[in-house]
Parts: sequence; C-alpha cells; structure tokens
Amino acid sequence: MINSSSERLVSKLREWISTAPTGAQLPSTRQLVADYELSPVTVQKALRTLITQGIIESRPGIGTFVRSIPVTRPNDYGWQTAALGATRNHLPQVHPSQRVLPNDVIALHSGYPDRELLPQRLVKSAFARVARTESVLLRTEPAGLPELQAWFASELNEHLLPGLSAPTARDVVILPGSQSGLGSIFRALVGEGEPMLIESPTYWGAIMAAAQVGVSLVPVPTGPNGPDTDELDRALERTGARAFYAHPNFANPTGAQWSPLVSERVLEIVKARGAFLIEDDWAKDFGISTESSPMAARDDTGHVVYLRSLTKSVSPAVRVAGLIARGPARDRILADNQAQSMYVSGPLQAVALDVVTQPGWGTHLRSLRQQLTNRRDQLINALHRHVPEAHLQSVPPGGLNLWVQLPDGTNLRQLEQDCETRKLAIAAGGSWFPAEESGQFLRLNYSGPNPGAFDEGARILGEALRSQYG
Ligand SMILES: Cc1ncc(COP(=O)(O)O)c(C=O)c1O
Repeated sequence: MINSSSERLVSKLREWISTAPTGAQLPSTRQLVADYELSPVTVQKALRTLITQGIIESRPGIGTFVRSIPVTRPNDYGWQTAALGATRNHLPQVHPSQRVLPNDVIALHSGYPDRELLPQRLVKSAFARVARTESVLLRTEPAGLPELQAWFASELNEHLLPGLSAPTARDVVILPGSQSGLGSIFRALVGEGEPMLIESPTYWGAIMAAAQVGVSLVPVPTGPNGPDTDELDRALERTGARAFYAHPNFANPTGAQWSPLVSERVLEIVKARGAFLIEDDWAKDFGISTESSPMAARDDTGHVVYLRSLTKSVSPAVRVAGLIARGPARDRILADNQAQSMYVSGPLQAVALDVVTQPGWGTHLRSLRQQLTNRRDQLINALHRHVPEAHLQSVPPGGLNLWVQLPDGTNLRQLEQDCETRKLAIAAGGSWFPAEESGQFLRLNYSGPNPGAFDEGARILGEALRSQYG
C-alpha cells in the first residue's frame, strides 16, 4: 500500500523523536513545511497523529514537544479471574483465520475475499448516495428495510420449485451478518443443553456460536456429495435432535455441493423427523462450475431455515445478512436477535440494497466467477507441482477454499509455525471439526491478496512439510 505524505512525515518524525531527549522542542510547523516541502495541512495532520499517539504534546502559543513517558505501574487484574470463575467454553479471542497480516505474508489462511474481488466501485458509490439520504438519521424496522427484505425473498424465489408457495418479504429478517444469525437460530430453535446435528467438517464460527449457546453438537460426516444420509437419520432418531446445521452449497471448508439425490433425501428425513434444516448459504455468490441451489427453494413447509450473507460478496464492511424462515421459527429468531442487537443500521442496509440492485452487480458476479476459477486452478496446479503429498478429495465447484489432506503423522501446528516464519500463512484444519479431527487437513483460501504468489506459497508449504520427514 502507498503511504500518504503525512504518513511518511509521521515515520520521519518518529525517527527524529527516537533520538531526541524527552521534552525536546520540535521544529515549528513553518520549518517542517520548508524542510519537507509539504503543505501546512499535511504537516498539521502528521503532528495531530503523533499527538493522538501520545508521542508529542502541543503547548499552545509555545510549541510542540517530545512527551515525557510517564512511568506506568503494571496493572494487576488477577482479582477478575477469581470473580469470573472458570470459563464454560474456551472461545478463542481472535480465530487464527481472522488475523490481518502484513502485506509481505502470502495469506492463504483467511476467509474473506481480497478487495480486488469486491465490487469496489459499486460499494463506494452506494455509500456516497446513501450518505445524502435521510436514512442516516432514522431508525429501521426491527425485521429490516422492507425493500431489502423483498430483495432477499425474490432472490430465493428465482430458485423456487414449481408448485411451492413463495416466501414473502415478511418471512425475511435482516441481520448484522450471519454470524449473529447463527447464535440467534441456535438459541431460538435448539437451546442450551439440547442436541444439534452438524456436518463434519464445518465452519468454525458455527461451532463457536453453538458452544456459546451451550448446544450439544452431534457430528455427521460429510463428503463431496453431501452428508451420509443414513447416519443423519440414525443420529436424529438416536439423539432426538430437532435441527441439522449444514452447507448444502459450496461448504466451508470443503467447497462440496450436495448432489440432487442427497438434497432430496435430507429434506425427506428432516420432514419425517419433525426437524429443521438450518441452511447456511454463505457462498451463494461464489459458484464456479455450478450455481448455488438453495434447499430452502425446495420447501414451503417451514422445515428449512435459510441464511444468506452479503458480507463476503458485497464488502466485509457491510455486515448484512438475510434470514428466511417461516412460521413461529421466524418470530422466535427475530425476537432473539432483537434482544441482542435491536436492529441493523439502516444506512448499511440501504448500501447493501443499492449494490445488489445495480445493473453492475450481475456483471461483477460474472467476472468474480472467472477470477475464482482462475485462482482455484492456479492454487491446485501449484500444489500439484510443489506438494504432491497433499490430497484434494475433489475439485470444489464453488466457494473460496481448498481442503487438503496431508499424510498421517504430519504435525500441523509445527507446519503452521514453520510456514509462518517463511512468510506463508495457512490454516490447520482442527477448528473446522466439531469433535475429533478425521485426519490432518489444511484449509487453503484462494481468494486472498496476490494470487501471483500462490506458486511460491505452495513451494514453501512443500518444503516445510518435507522438513518434518527428515
Ligand atoms: C459458513 C459461514 N457462515 C457464516 C459466516 C459468517 O458470515 P458473516 O460475515 O455474514 O457474519 C461465515 C464466515 O466466514 C461462514 O463461512
């Protein structure tokens, strides 16, 4: 990233300050303007930054001085551990895949697409348009902006099987991202101490949300065509669970898409067992060789509760998702989410709506598909070249990740560390398993910055892997 002039001046002044005694006076603004050939506005901006950082202080009418560093006594918060007691669930403070790393690290660990895959122009002009409207001063209906609710409903209706009744805007609840929806759904439909079936492997954030609610997870193994439906049926019967959380399209982490046969069978099973299918269509916009085919479009009996996020395809700064649920389930989820977050900021909803209703949105999605195809294939080819030990069960038809299995006995923790010292970030697969890991897996994301570095990333991975075998 190119630094602005004021950022460059900040770093030069920091260098100067590092050798200056405490209390030293900085040159005047006029002097800095002359020395660095910058405008007074730029110089003042740099000085304000250093003041905010507590490095210098301004004494009005006298000048600007290097601040004396107050001697701070280390704080002791030990009493809090006693007051809080043991944690019920050990939730990681920042999941490793959420880390933002320096630009020189090849980032295959993250879950969010790079900005070059986002509809940047559409998002920026939507923010500019929305900023000029009254929405920036108003609150919104708890269930969301009616036009955005209608858009989510109509999008699902494009896939609706003939003869089924279409979901309406009223069946849609707008959420501040689907992560918050997961917590609400698990609380409202399952509840603390109750069992819920979940594909294994699956999204770590869903495992975390379930842990936070206190839901007891029952893993159902899943593969390139979807879950083992016999096992699903047996587990529903055995546990009495009333919900199954799954990714029928482009699963996170595997990228798998359920076959039509599996989809049909799953729906039959949940209906017969009086259960909900919680469908997380997180990668709706990331089809590569196929389209997402939502299960919710095959059901009008309220058995499928559908979540569809825009944060990955519109912008991670527009945390907006739509939930589609029918009947009392919808009302309970809405009530829970209202208790957590009241309503989603209206301007954010308006931005999301503006982006997805522009003619440029369709064009963007088509170009995104092409870019994801290239990136996925580039990473696969790089792995073939440099990491022949890595096994990919099948080429994902969509999504953002490759889920690769490494030889048994691989020390994944060590591998992660060895790669990171060589400036490659990867994600060990452990946190995608709701119970024990079924093997040694890595999730490698192909939507991060700089796909030109995939080959180098795979070379580093291969080298680090083979260093474990002597
Ligand atoms: C399967 C799945 N569900 C939900 C989420 C959370 O999405 P959001 O950003 O809308 O909270 C993610 C994010 O990685 C995901 O992969």
